Amino acid sequence: MLAGAGGTGLLAATAGPAKAATARARRARTAANNGTPEQIHLTWGDNPTSSVVISWASPGRASRPRVRIGQRVIPAEFRTYTDGLSGETVWTYHAKVGGLRPGATYAYAVTADNDGNAADPFSATFRTAPQGRAAFRFTSFGDLATPNTSWVLSYGQSAYAVEAVESFQPLFHLLNGDLCYANLNPAAQPEVWRDFGNNNQTSAANRPWMPCPGNHEVEFYNGPQGLTSYLTRYTLPENHAPGFGGRWYSFRIGSVLFVSLDADDVVYQDAAAFVAGPAALTPAAGTGHPPVQPGTSFYIRGYSGGVQTAWLERTLAAGRRDESVDWVIVQMHQCALSSSATGNGSDLGIRQEWLPLFDRYQVDLVLNGHDHDYERSFPVRGADADVGREVATGTVVNTLRPHPVTTTDSGVFDTSQGTVHLILGCGGTDAPLDEYGTDTANGERQAKVFTRADRPVLTSTPDVYARAAADAVEDAVWSARRDTSTGYGIAVFDVEPASAETSGQASIKVTHYHAVGADPVNPATGVKGAPTPDYTEFETFRLVRPR
Ligand SMILES: [Fe+2]
Repeated sequence: MLAGAGGTGLLAATAGPAKAATARARRARTAANNGTPEQIHLTWGDNPTSSVVISWASPGRASRPRVRIGQRVIPAEFRTYTDGLSGETVWTYHAKVGGLRPGATYAYAVTADNDGNAADPFSATFRTAPQGRAAFRFTSFGDLATPNTSWVLSYGQSAYAVEAVESFQPLFHLLNGDLCYANLNPAAQPEVWRDFGNNNQTSAANRPWMPCPGNHEVEFYNGPQGLTSYLTRYTLPENHAPGFGGRWYSFRIGSVLFVSLDADDVVYQDAAAFVAGPAALTPAAGTGHPPVQPGTSFYIRGYSGGVQTAWLERTLAAGRRDESVDWVIVQMHQCALSSSATGNGSDLGIRQEWLPLFDRYQVDLVLNGHDHDYERSFPVRGADADVGREVATGTVVNTLRPHPVTTTDSGVFDTSQGTVHLILGCGGTDAPLDEYGTDTANGERQAKVFTRADRPVLTSTPDVYARAAADAVEDAVWSARRDTSTGYGIAVFDVEPASAETSGQASIKVTHYHAVGADPVNPATGVKGAPTPDYTEFETFRLVRPR
């Protein structure tokens, strides 16, 4: 997310949902009977050893959409929505495939009666999760965008990033928010989602991609939190929170409990859909929705009324009571610990609501996106009080600065002593944010911190509004490693069970690979770069946990 991105979104907005409607209507007539599967992607079912969900979309409504797997034919559940800005209808399908064997490979095909490829339907293979304390690999990044550079924040690296996932052949991928930035392209949200879905199908049809919502999944007139586009496309594990399905969830793979959160619910920063002005954002006439006036932002902090945090506590407590769980890994989009200077920085809301729970239940690892770079923290536990400064006045402010349990970068970290945070917003946008803060007074690393909401304020230009950057700073004593060479990369995690070889310690080997040269302009050298398929190792380290 860029602080100024609302302005660029506005350019797309003024081009106008209304103006695009005629061409769209023509396309819609030819697409109406086209049930050809596209945007095919997998997610884990409620038990990854035995169930997956196969999801897809089609240009028009599919007739008898279904999955073939072995001798079984599984009808797909049909879900649709009408985009609140363009009035366009989106058709999606979700087939829940259960009764699978652990650690097994399955071939499947996706089709419909009006599938244009009916003679040779789309087919792929996937693997179910292993049972027990098995070794497995997963990968992660966020902030992927699409390779179609017609869209705001999209960039060619997005295609290479998907290929990078495939090259590492993980069991699954964690996509930690800001999937495609459709809300920065308000006239064409469904088209952006389509380009995103067709790009990541290259990998997501072969292995589950497990997403969490980011600020750019929040769209005007698309549901109570603006998440209808996201929720319609994904079927995610059940969280048993009525009214909040799909927004957060957990699943188990081997000895790891994975917890996926929606930080939009707790962050102070206001970074979702926004109309900067001076023009209003006018939805297509057929939607019946009034224009969104300049200065309007879709701010959803607190939307679950504490339900998500209560669920998180129950989930973490149950995980730590379970003898078969070694590791707890959390993904969310926004950052509790980020020292990007060009990005958003850290948010006190996460530190207040969730870091105490991460401490109490010994969360090992937190994966975030949002800032388009790579940063690793030392293990942190507890907080240092009253060490932040308000940017405007210099007065002391309590940023609840996470306390590092060590500042020795040994390459091996015992996460029973503290939680490691990784910023992985390095997927594929055209806006790398790999410039980091320094405290000019003492040369220490410095992080910006949101300690209050940055709601839109009127600028000196009539009818033009802006949202401020973070209001506080702190010396980022928790920051261990920052990649200054590029804003693009992928993290690869190898979970290795305890054995005699590892002295009875379970471990996770983490390797971050980066795509040097992919930055459109290298912040350190000013050299112009271009998308690249070459991902090389940036660093490797190991998390350990005595049992
Ligand atoms: Fe973001």
